[in-house]
Amino acid sequence: MKLILMGPPGAGKGTQAEKLIDLYQIPHISTGDMFRKAQKEGTALGLQAKSYMDQGQLVPDEVTIGIVRERLSEDDCKNGFLLDGFPRTVQQADALDGILTDLGMSLDAVVDIQVNKDFLVERLTGRRVCKACGATYHVSFNAPKVENVCDKCGGELYQRNDDKIETVSNRLDVYAAQTAPLIEYYQSKGMIKSIDGSKSVEEVLADIQAALGSK
Ligand code: AP5
Ligand code: MG
Repeated sequence: MKLILMGPPGAGKGTQAEKLIDLYQIPHISTGDMFRKAQKEGTALGLQAKSYMDQGQLVPDEVTIGIVRERLSEDDCKNGFLLDGFPRTVQQADALDGILTDLGMSLDAVVDIQVNKDFLVERLTGRRVCKACGATYHVSFNAPKVENVCDKCGGELYQRNDDKIETVSNRLDVYAAQTAPLIEYYQSKGMIKSIDGSKSVEEVLADIQAALGSK
């Protein structure tokens, strides 16, 4: 299964990705996670990405396209992958077409998770993430058993820098201006599966599976 998971910030891409990669046994390729890992490790890529991410802006295309090309060329992607948060611009989508052609691969589907703006703001500002294992929680919708402690590994939970209210609205504007046009881009190729992301996590997962059918 070669899949793109699209949707605005907070739509639930990461939440659904965790479940879909288990179901389909494919690697999860999240450019946001790759940039956050690079920041944690203090690499040049991490430093470069940080200034953009903290302002809710996109990291420049040439940087992002380069890391995705490298990642998709790895052996574990031969039988499938789930791209989460890439592509995010038409230039990235064109580049992805070229990368897949070079690798002799083609996409099976583009899943677009749709959620309205009020829900997104609430989901993003209430999100908490485990510092140690990256598990995602929400203070109201998916609270950990003990406040600020990860259920899975006992790690400390934190709020992403870009989940502060002032950055969240920038991210939503950037999505509308630069990423939403991709829906039409993939619609014209007949690849889009639109999913109502305002339902519960389990219902959204079931709808995605139904939309993907026997692929
Ligand atoms: P990235 O990390 O990709 O962030 P994003 O796209 O803004 O999306 P999020 O991770 O915030 O949301 P999500 O859809 O994964 O939602 P989640 O499942 O966590 O990118 C961050 C930054 O990196 C970008 O701003 C940019 O600077 C840079 N970047 C990344 N990719 C790039 C690219 N291709 N080009 C250039 N720059 C790039 O859920 C959110 C919350 O809601 C959680 O608390 C969760 O528990 C809760 N939740 C989830 N589903 C439900 C549900 N069904 N019901 C109730 N609550 C739910
Ligand atoms: Mg995410």
